[in-house]
Amino acid sequence: APQPNPADLDRVAVAALTRVADGMTLGLGTGRAAEAFIRKLGERVRRGMRIHAVATSERSAALAHKESIELLQLDEVQRVDVAFDGADEVAPDLSLTKGLGGALLRERVVAFDAERFVVLVTPEKLVERLGTRVPIPIEVVPFASPSASRHLQKLGGKPVVRKDVAGLPYRTDNHNWILDTDFGPIDDPQGLDVRLRRIPGVVDNGLFLGMASVVLVGEEGSVREIRR
Ligand code: A5P
Repeated sequence: APQPNPADLDRVAVAALTRVADGMTLGLGTGRAAEAFIRKLGERVRRGMRIHAVATSERSAALAHKESIELLQLDEVQRVDVAFDGADEVAPDLSLTKGLGGALLRERVVAFDAERFVVLVTPEKLVERLGTRVPIPIEVVPFASPSASRHLQKLGGKPVVRKDVAGLPYRTDNHNWILDTDFGPIDDPQGLDVRLRRIPGVVDNGLFLGMASVVLVGEEGSVREIRR
């Protein structure tokens, strides 16, 4: 897959920062785009901007900490004003696939809690139909992985247990496994989402439908805004 251009990610991160005001509580996503945003936010915080933030992964929490961004746990916040995160695919209706970075469940929890959900991508993420570029990551309780795999196959998917660098099943921050499941381009994401959620042991899946408020696309020299 084509890699995002770091300069485009920086540009989109700077554009995202214009949506941040003093006193806000922010959701910090996971992945390269979210990390570009966390670094730019860190620069502002060190120059005196006062915000609180909730992280969607141990990895982003570590980066935020390094950037002197004050982190809160979800139970310490009343509300999240804006969540910022990347995505693996963006369809024309702003439905998304997420989770190549493995943080989908916490990303959804924070985005769902947020007043606004701002998605940061580069143009190679834009697709006509979800499932075109990437398989759908499906987070499962390890015990249920074999049975969930069989049920995913009945739905027409090709599930593969995600592995870590040592070749062992990849563990999410929630100690679950991920079945990366290729369905090909998806005609009915809503219907598929309902069917996936019916499978026992499936904790979450990478389809983020009706959640994004706006998508910022970092292109050569500019940032394009796509709204619903
Ligand atoms: C993490 O779990 C994912 O949902 C990421 O948000 C997504 O993979 C986008 O990451 P990049 O910005 O690195 O492409």
